[in-house]
Amino acid sequence: MSIESIKKHPVPAGFEAALVTPGDYARLYAESISDPAGFWGREGRRLDWIQPYSRVKDTDFTLGQVSIKWFEDGILNASVNCIDRHLPRRATQTAIIFEPDDPNQPARHITYAELSDKVNRFANVLLSQGVMRGDRVVIYLPMIPEAAYAMLACARIGAIHSIVFAGFSPDALANRINDSGAKLVITADTAPRGGRKTALKSNTDAALLHCSDRVRCLVVKHTGDQTSWIEGRDVDVLKLMEEVSPDCPPRPMGAEDPLFILYTSGSTGKPKGVVHTTGGYLLYAAMTHQYVFDYKDGDVFWCTADVGWVTGHSYIVYGPLANGATTLMFEGVPTWPDAGRFWAVCEKHRVNQFYTAPTAIRALMGQGPEWVEKHDLSSLRVLGTVGEPINPEAWVWYDKHVGKGRCPIVDTWWQTETGGHMITSLPGAIETKPGSATLPFFGVKPVVLDPQSGVALDGDGVEGVLCIADSWPGQMRTVWGDHQRFMETYFQQYPGYYFTGDGCRRDEDGYYWITGRVDDVINVSGHRMGTAEVESALVAHEKVAEAAVVGYPHPLKGQGIYAYVTLMNGVEPSDGLRAELEKWVRTEIGPIAKPDLIQWAPGLPKTRSGKIMRRILRKIAEDDFAALGDISTLADPSVVDELIENRMNRH
Ligand code: WT7
Repeated sequence: MSIESIKKHPVPAGFEAALVTPGDYARLYAESISDPAGFWGREGRRLDWIQPYSRVKDTDFTLGQVSIKWFEDGILNASVNCIDRHLPRRATQTAIIFEPDDPNQPARHITYAELSDKVNRFANVLLSQGVMRGDRVVIYLPMIPEAAYAMLACARIGAIHSIVFAGFSPDALANRINDSGAKLVITADTAPRGGRKTALKSNTDAALLHCSDRVRCLVVKHTGDQTSWIEGRDVDVLKLMEEVSPDCPPRPMGAEDPLFILYTSGSTGKPKGVVHTTGGYLLYAAMTHQYVFDYKDGDVFWCTADVGWVTGHSYIVYGPLANGATTLMFEGVPTWPDAGRFWAVCEKHRVNQFYTAPTAIRALMGQGPEWVEKHDLSSLRVLGTVGEPINPEAWVWYDKHVGKGRCPIVDTWWQTETGGHMITSLPGAIETKPGSATLPFFGVKPVVLDPQSGVALDGDGVEGVLCIADSWPGQMRTVWGDHQRFMETYFQQYPGYYFTGDGCRRDEDGYYWITGRVDDVINVSGHRMGTAEVESALVAHEKVAEAAVVGYPHPLKGQGIYAYVTLMNGVEPSDGLRAELEKWVRTEIGPIAKPDLIQWAPGLPKTRSGKIMRRILRKIAEDDFAALGDISTLADPSVVDELIENRMNRH
């Protein structure tokens, strides 16, 4: 189906009273672009400030001096904005609904008053362990309320949290603890998910062998499973929370003080620590959460992401709680105990807004609509998707079977770096097209550039690379400890613009269609993976001489990981070795990095100067090698025939 043949879906009936109407969108968007300081100066008052800002925007995209500051002289505390300010009106309202992995265990409803108590106590525990303002705290927790408590407790005392997704390996955890220079890591004994358990504490023990012995370990005894215990290093956080005071005064923080670091993959081997700051990030998360999901008081909001990813930061914790919302935290997986779990949870908690990833939709679509039809989904009002382009087939299924044609679908394009939604429809204001993220959010100025010349392509019906022409409050400020790398990664290739790394088409209606990454990053089930990271893990194995990793289209995951591996002289390929390498990558990085296909490659296609020609490897992995283009520059063109002959992905 060509993009141009996809028709607009009108806004469903009942959205006349949406927070943003079509007229509002046009007017506010125009204002946000023509007068950013006026627009954001007004929007900034959504937050409670200890000292109001006088300056709104001070940003510079000039290479060599990139600097991004919003509300710079304002002083606030993020935990006050997510908790304290709601207490007069919402003390007894549920802030967090916790739905455990096991559907037979009771759900927990945590009120704002209870959230306040827990976060204050947690903050006092952190202080008792010597954590100070500006210190880094790594959080390696499953999807349990304590993850939100830990985040907000850090924010309360001005410590900078860095969450490491609980699916990452001990090595990946150790690297992040070391790169951030964290004083403390917070983990849990074990984590049930889909009826199985991950041994988080023992992973943390393994990680800490590679870290300074001054790093302390707070353990949430979540399941009560036995774990090892190192006296003097390990601390039972739940026990200590009962002993400390329930009052911890919030630390006044500058708007530009870092709120958190979140590591993400890029084109090079080492993940970078994306830094978000307090004022601009929180405002942007809150505002996008409200408008994009048409969130209204009393709604129950569910984002199925993990707090280990930015989606969880912005749309499970900070955005919803800053808005005084009820946010649902789900410990489990979509397909356990059966493929109806998501819908059972929607029914049980009367969820109003549901936000998930295309990979989950495709997986559930494959199980058949009967799993959806078993449940009463009449509470749903808005559906969202994020993480990768959604194929129109999955969009249509989502609309028909989950939304029953009544719920607008917001396809939200954004990145770890952007803090919140950037290109997305708005429920009452923007007509949708299956597969398109539609139009920019307020204050966002997308531009499509010619990839070679870097010239902006004006008008509609153009395709190129996606850049953003000016700053927005949720933008990342730097790479932790490496501002140079920040500038080089995002501002060097196309001077004057923030470069997203995505390709994009603007269609005849001015709608944006993300076509996928144009760098060496691949998107596996909505998770971002640097191909260089997987390559370095593979070559670290003693039997591997060389490795090249590319993405290929995968029916469920969006993209799969395809690895070409050259073995050391004398090592024989075998299925056993293949399994060994898969396991190796799992332990080096984590299960999400496991190659889907490994092809033994006696040689890799290289130029005479020794550069691997990934374009050719991508084509072979896609099983589309008819048009390989010019291979005459290869040092040894015959390796290509060998690779085609033994390709792993055949249609
Ligand atoms: C990359 C960012 C922040 C969301 C979670 C992933 C891709 C994200 C969409 C979408 C098409 C999308 C892009 C982007 N992406 N959302 N709605 N349509 N592509 O965050 O790990 O930082 O990955 O995910 O390629 O650059 P992330």
